[in-house]
Amino acid sequence: MPQAPQTLTSRPEWQALIDHQADIKYLHMRDLFNRDPKRFERYFLEAAGLALDYSKNLVTEETLQHLFTLARSCQLPARIEAMFRGDRVNVTENRPALHVALRNLSDEPVKVDGTDIMPEIRDTLARMEEFVWRVNSTQWRGFTNKPFTDVVSIGIGGSFLGPKLVSASLKPYWHGRLNCHYVANIDGSHITEVLRHINPETTLFLIQSKSFRTQETLENTRVAREWFLHNGGSEERISKHFVAVTANAKEAVKFGIAEENIFPMWDWVGGRYSLWSAIGLPTALTIGMDNFRGLLAGANAMDQHFRTAPLEENLPVILALLGIWYGNFWGADAHAILPYDHYLRGLPAHLQQLDMESNGKCVTQAGEPVNYQTGPIIWGGAGANGQHAYHQLLHQGTKLSPADFIIPLHTHNPVGNHHAILFANCLSQTQALMQGKTEDEARAELAAQGLDENAINRLARHKVIPGNKPSNTLLFERATPRTVGALIALYEHKTYTQGVIWDVDSFDQWGVELGKQLGEGILDRLLQSGGDQGATDSSTDGLIRLFRNRHKNGF
Ligand code: F6P
Repeated sequence: MPQAPQTLTSRPEWQALIDHQADIKYLHMRDLFNRDPKRFERYFLEAAGLALDYSKNLVTEETLQHLFTLARSCQLPARIEAMFRGDRVNVTENRPALHVALRNLSDEPVKVDGTDIMPEIRDTLARMEEFVWRVNSTQWRGFTNKPFTDVVSIGIGGSFLGPKLVSASLKPYWHGRLNCHYVANIDGSHITEVLRHINPETTLFLIQSKSFRTQETLENTRVAREWFLHNGGSEERISKHFVAVTANAKEAVKFGIAEENIFPMWDWVGGRYSLWSAIGLPTALTIGMDNFRGLLAGANAMDQHFRTAPLEENLPVILALLGIWYGNFWGADAHAILPYDHYLRGLPAHLQQLDMESNGKCVTQAGEPVNYQTGPIIWGGAGANGQHAYHQLLHQGTKLSPADFIIPLHTHNPVGNHHAILFANCLSQTQALMQGKTEDEARAELAAQGLDENAINRLARHKVIPGNKPSNTLLFERATPRTVGALIALYEHKTYTQGVIWDVDSFDQWGVELGKQLGEGILDRLLQSGGDQGATDSSTDGLIRLFRNRHKNGF
C-alpha cells in the first residue's frame, strides 16, 4: 500500500519546533546577549557583498539546529538544485522558474525541454545593449529628429515594480540624459500627470507586459498612443516611439508595435522575477548597460551563494527559516522591510509583490488545504521616517512583526553628519526592539527627571517597552548595481525557500484571477447605455446602480 504523504505539521521536525518554542518562550534576548558576549560574531554572515546580523532574534543554537533539520526534511537542498536545473518547479502552470538563468554569467547551458536557453538570453542582452546605445548616443531619435529626453514605461505588477525599484535605487548612476517615468495604475490621473509634462517629439514609450493582455497596461498604452497621434505623431511615426517587451509578440503587433521593436520574454520567467530580463530596459536606459550588467552580476553572486553554501551559512535560507520560526511557531502574521536608504524606499512595495504573490497560498502543491500559516503580510517603508509613525506599534503594540533593517555603510550623498545620524537611528531601533525598557528602568528614569511618586506610579507602565522583538540587520558598503542585485536576489531566494517548506507553488498567482474575471462583467454593466439586467449580490448591484446614476449623461 502506498503511504499517504506526510503533512508538514505531522513531521517530527515540526513537533520538535513546537516543543522547543514552549521551552524557550520566556527567554529574553537581553539575557541571551548577556550570557554570550560573542553572540554578534556567532550570528553574523557575509555573502555576495551583503552582511547579515541575525543575532537580535529569539533563537538559540538549538533553535537553529531544529530549523535546519526541518529544512533538510523538506528536501531543501534538492529543491534548490531543481530550480537552478530548470525543473518544472511551477507545478500548476507546468513551467520552470528560471530567472536565475537571466543572470547566469557562466558558460554553463540551462536547458528547457532539452534546448539550451542561454543563447536566446545572450542575444536579448546584446539587443538591449544595442538599443540602449542607439538611444543614449542619440542615433535613435524622435520623429522630428530630436534626441529623446523622456522614457515612459507602461506596465503593472512585476512589469513595473522591479524596474521602478532598481531605477530609483540606482539614481546616482543615472547618466542624466533621460528622465524615466513609470505609468502603472488604471486611474487616469496617473498617465494624465505624466503626459502633461512631456513632449511627444522627444518621448520614447516602453510597453512592458509579459502577457500583453493586462487591462491596465493596454488601456494606458491606448491613451499614450492617442495622445501621440493627436500631438504631431502619426501611424508611420509610431515605430520610432513605441517599443514593447512581451512574451506575446502577436498581440503587440496587433496593437501597432513594429515587430523589430519587440523584445522577448519567456514563460519560464515569472512577472515578479522579470526585472532581470528586457523588462529591465527602462533601468538599463537610465543607468547604462554596464551598470545593468553589474546588477545581474550581483544577483548572480547571490545565486551562487544560495546554490552552494551550506544551509547553516546560507543567507536566504537563514532569513527564510527565521520567518518560518516566527510565522508558524510564534504567531507573527507580518514582516516589516525597513530600508534606511532613501534610494531603496521602493523596496517594501517590490517585496510585497514578490513575497505575497508568491507565498500567499492556502493549498499545497498537491492541492491539499494547508493547516499552517503561509506567507506573511509584508509591509514597511523608509527609515528613519517610520520611527515617527508606525514604529510605535513595533515597540509597544500587541502584534508581532519581525523586521529587516537594511542600511549601507556609506552614503552616496555625504552631507553633514547625516549618515552617522541615520546609522545611529537604525541601530537604536534594533537595540530598543531587542532590549526594551523594564518597569524599574522606567521608574528610575522618571525619578531622575524629578517626578514625584504619584506621577511615577501613573506613568511608569506606559513607559515600559517589552523588548524581545526580533530584527535582522542587513548591511552593504554602498547601494551599487551589484549590491542592489544581490539584495533583490536574496529576497527572491528567501521567498522560494519558504515556499519549499510550506509546500506551496511560489510561482503561480491564481488568486488575482477572480477579481479580473468579475471585473469584466462589472465593467460591461457600468458601461451599458441601455437597461442593466445583471444581478449579483445586493451590495455590488447597489454600487453599480449608484455609479450608473452619477454617469447618466456620460463620463
Ligand atoms: O495580476 C498579476 C500579474 O499577473 C502579475 O503577476 C504580473 O506581474 C502582472 O500581473 C502584470 O502582468 P503582465 O506583465 O502580463 O502585464
